[in-house]
Amino acid sequence: FSNFLTDTFDRQHTYLRISITEKCNLRCTYCMPAEGIQLSSSDELLTTEEILRLARLFVSQGITKIRLTGGEPTVRPDIIQLVQGIGELKNHGLQHLGMTSNGIALKRKLPSLVDAGMDSLNVSLDTLDKDMFEIITRRKGYERVLESVHQALELGMPSVKINCVVIRGTNDREVSNFVALTKNLPITVRFIEYMPFDGNRWNADKLVPYKDLIRDIEGRYGRLQKVSDDPNDTTKAFRVPGYAGKVGFITSMSDHFCGTCNRLRITTDGNLKVCLFGAAEVSLRDYMRQSVSDEDLCDIIGMAVKKKKKQHAVQYHRYRRPPGFLSLVPGKSTFL
Ligand code: GTP
Ligand code: 5AD
Ligand code: SF4
Repeated sequence: FSNFLTDTFDRQHTYLRISITEKCNLRCTYCMPAEGIQLSSSDELLTTEEILRLARLFVSQGITKIRLTGGEPTVRPDIIQLVQGIGELKNHGLQHLGMTSNGIALKRKLPSLVDAGMDSLNVSLDTLDKDMFEIITRRKGYERVLESVHQALELGMPSVKINCVVIRGTNDREVSNFVALTKNLPITVRFIEYMPFDGNRWNADKLVPYKDLIRDIEGRYGRLQKVSDDPNDTTKAFRVPGYAGKVGFITSMSDHFCGTCNRLRITTDGNLKVCLFGAAEVSLRDYMRQSVSDEDLCDIIGMAVKKKKKQHAVQYHRYRRPPGFLSLVPGKSTFL
């Protein structure tokens, strides 16, 4: 394993998340303002070739899983080309290729994406009520999202998950309906603790800690069965006994999982981020545009990885927003 991707706490980074666009066709209230966000100019964004070069380089150094994120990845016109190009790396060490999508515009693309090697789809869906969907996302399209989930299963995708950010007073009463989906569908429904950033509508009262969710779910469904978690998973996974699918919890706020973090991130404009909650470390784009060699890029990446901190600073404030905490631009792929 390449030591470029090992940090000073001996964490080996095998999972790369590449954000391929800042644009989105929804306007989820917890993520973006109604008017959208200030987009970077197109020459600031990584080109298809630059993304594929980085993907190749990272896989050569030990990355075994790549997930494309956004914004909404499907709004990027070269999405199929990108997945095809990255999919070819499955002959060179890549084991998993996934996408996190809101599912709105997947239908026509999904068969080609699966053909090209995409094996994991995480669909963001925070409500099972059409009217509430329009309130949360400020757009229509609820049915299309559900169709994408079913279509992914029909196409035989090995991993299909629903991401549900739980917000008290908004969708927290729907938790058992989400659990009910796992009765017949072999999917994982993951409840995500609502995280703050400047400009989103977070406050501590809206956060529902996962222990409260487990208590409510068990009140209704009986004791949940623990399912073994992958060593680097963000998710604590369970199952209602006898159900086809799983229920998971992403506990970024009440019980962080930094100790087993194996993730690196590339932003749309080609910055390397070693932590979701950290700032950009280095512009790989600028180095690539100065024609540096792959070897030099590896050194540059290695130096950034060595700066990774032991853990992020969110939860130690008892869910209060510490001063100056996460002064990031809302919607700029902050949580992706
Ligand atoms: P899998 O590959 O299926 O494990 O997906 P994932 O959970 O890594 O990614 P996804 O894009 O579906 O994100 C789900 C939730 O996990 C989002 O709310 C992310 O903000 C959160 N998340 C993803 N990566 C990290 C991370 O490194 N740290 C923390 N704290 N949260 C993360
Ligand atoms: N807190 C928790 N999860 C969030 N996501 C977006 N914003 C937040 C937030 N403030 C989720 C989306 C998507 C995933 C990639 O990140 O719902 O499923
Ligand atoms: Fe778009 Fe995802 Fe943000 Fe919703 S949470 S506006 S789907 S990027």
